[in-house]
Amino acid sequence: MRLDKLISDSAALTRKEAAASVRAGQAAVNGIVVREPDCKVDPGIDSVVFRGVPLVWRKYIYAMLNKPAGYVSATDDRSLPYVLELFPPEYRKRGLFPVGRLDRDTTGLLVMTDDGQTAHRCLSPRRHVTKVYSFTCLSPLPPEAEKAFADGMTLGGEVCLPASLSPDESRTAGTVTLTEGKYHQIKRMFERLGNKITTLKRESFAGIPLDPSLAPGEWRELTKEETETLLAAAGTETPDE
Ligand code: URA
Repeated sequence: MRLDKLISDSAALTRKEAAASVRAGQAAVNGIVVREPDCKVDPGIDSVVFRGVPLVWRKYIYAMLNKPAGYVSATDDRSLPYVLELFPPEYRKRGLFPVGRLDRDTTGLLVMTDDGQTAHRCLSPRRHVTKVYSFTCLSPLPPEAEKAFADGMTLGGEVCLPASLSPDESRTAGTVTLTEGKYHQIKRMFERLGNKITTLKRESFAGIPLDPSLAPGEWRELTKEETETLLAAAGTETPDE
């Protein structure tokens, strides 16, 4: 790949800015200053230092965001805050997008990536990727609620896959585990029981728990192990490093 493309992909620079910086002698390949923006580099093999900092190139980026309430799960929106706004320019430039959607008022774990195939596969109901949510609801859940979730509820004529409901002793809070993601699914399931969700937070996705050190609005890249867990859930191969 071209040196200016690698720099522009890895830093918050346009291709033009990256090329100008290379011409100005701000990039070194394998320890030698290179001034040709079209110099061919292999990011997996060559060591590239830009403005004194070694560039780490990844084929894809995988990140976890602790989504705050009030943000839409989108890469752009005319009037509402959207999750991509919470990422710095170099990540936004890579074309990160959310793997699935959380409602505007839902908080918690949102995986973000630029790996379309893995995202697509994670969202396929056939893959049964697990999502665990903690909830609070308006009134105590009736004794038959667990069975109603486990049997697979019918919402708007569509039969849901079996889900797991684990209320705490109060029966107005607990966790729900889904292996699919229909529109407003949990809220609609609670409405079917004559109840109402008051708060909803995603605690884990594909077996990857939300990092408790992330405050709402904070994010970090997935660790190597978390990335492997995600790719295994999606059935995709580990991308070249
Ligand atoms: N179910 C919902 O109703 N909302 C969400 O955001 C996620 C699951």
